[in-house]
Amino acid sequence: MKHTFFRLCLLSISCVLVSACSTSEEPDGIQADQIESKEHLTALDSSSTNQHEMVVYKSATCGCCKEWVSYIERAGFSVSAIDTDELDAVKTKHGLTDPSLKSCHTAIVDGYVIEGHVPVNDIERLLAERPAIVGLTAPGMPMMSPGMASETPKDYDVLAFDKTGQTHIYSSY
Ligand code: CU
Ligand code: CU
Repeated sequence: MKHTFFRLCLLSISCVLVSACSTSEEPDGIQADQIESKEHLTALDSSSTNQHEMVVYKSATCGCCKEWVSYIERAGFSVSAIDTDELDAVKTKHGLTDPSLKSCHTAIVDGYVIEGHVPVNDIERLLAERPAIVGLTAPGMPMMSPGMASETPKDYDVLAFDKTGQTHIYSSY
């Protein structure tokens, strides 16, 4: 009995020694972690100053779509504009089937659909709050909207729509 106890003691002493050795190496490990998390923070910082990537599907001949893309780029988004003749297929694929919700172009940003002349502040609010909706739409072609006649939105509603096609007013101008 005594021998076993002694052996256990030896074992635990060597465990302590081994762990003492490994703790002496830990500061390096911690430093590496700290550097990593600092880099992570920097990445978060740059995304909060708006480096969201947006894909915009539009027809090649759409002038107001081009205007809206340049307005969104000036707001700091990185935009890939894709010309297509299959806009309806793009809309359907992204859950936009109700004709009364459709507009000229369809954009995708961070998994959300942005349909038509939606002002940038609504997109930024959407990306900050991340509600459980499919996206936002400015149905039709509101005259006083960014990309149309007015960079300051006026006289129209931006709607939020969900998977079931339910809508609610997201912003009123
Ligand atoms: Cu348009
Ligand atoms: Cu458009």
